[in-house]
Amino acid sequence: MTRCVKTDQQGVAKALEEKVLLYLNTLYKRPLARHTIRAFEVAEGFVKKFNKKVVLDSGCGTADSSLVLAERFPEHPVLGLDKSDFRLSKQKKDLPQNLLLLQVELLDFWRLALEAKWSVLFHALYYPNPWPKEVQLGRRFHAHPIFPTFLMLSPHFEMRTNWKIYGDEFLKACEIALPKLQMFSSVKLETWRPQKPETAFERKYLNSGQDLWRVITI
Ligand SMILES: C[S@@+](CC[C@H](N)C(=O)[O-])C[C@H]1O[C@@H](n2cnc3c(N)ncnc32)[C@H](O)[C@@H]1O
Repeated sequence: MTRCVKTDQQGVAKALEEKVLLYLNTLYKRPLARHTIRAFEVAEGFVKKFNKKVVLDSGCGTADSSLVLAERFPEHPVLGLDKSDFRLSKQKKDLPQNLLLLQVELLDFWRLALEAKWSVLFHALYYPNPWPKEVQLGRRFHAHPIFPTFLMLSPHFEMRTNWKIYGDEFLKACEIALPKLQMFSSVKLETWRPQKPETAFERKYLNSGQDLWRVITI
């Protein structure tokens, strides 16, 4: 198998634990982007029609995985979320009635959803940007002040990556933070090979023979 993430890291970043612990005690107060506040209002209207728990596909890109999730959870509202209108607009299929795609800033949308006490049945975070240089650690979701919000949003999540170190770090960050948040989901990291690719990046990685990893709650 080939490894295609170019990084200066040999393993989990040294500063990870310190950052995770720091952000557990910090309130993240970045001003919310207007377009995401508006998108959240639209999402709330959509979700209310179902009276069921929500499924989130965060950083859905071209939203191929959002279609898969809409089929897997037919009774539930599924939201495909991405900041890139360009990527979202590549999804040309007629969307199923339980799927809505929205252009949002995830850092803000997650905070709004948590404040609104949404019940999130399943949270997909497939192939987040790796930010592969060690100096970029703070940009990775698990080493960012938003991480406690991500964890508190749903006890059931799945993060997929083609970079083992990202998977190791995500797992470690979960193991540090979950008990401190009084959340007792168990998490594990596993290698994983889907029968059929579910996202555009997954297709690209599989076609180039890369290993895939995921952190899942069990
Ligand atoms: C590597 S791509 C993966 C896309 C898709 N999940 C896939 O597997 O094909 C990461 C996606 O996350 C989106 N993204 C990254 N950070 C984001 C943020 N803070 N808010 C919203 N979207 C974000 C990017 O626009 C991009 O589409």
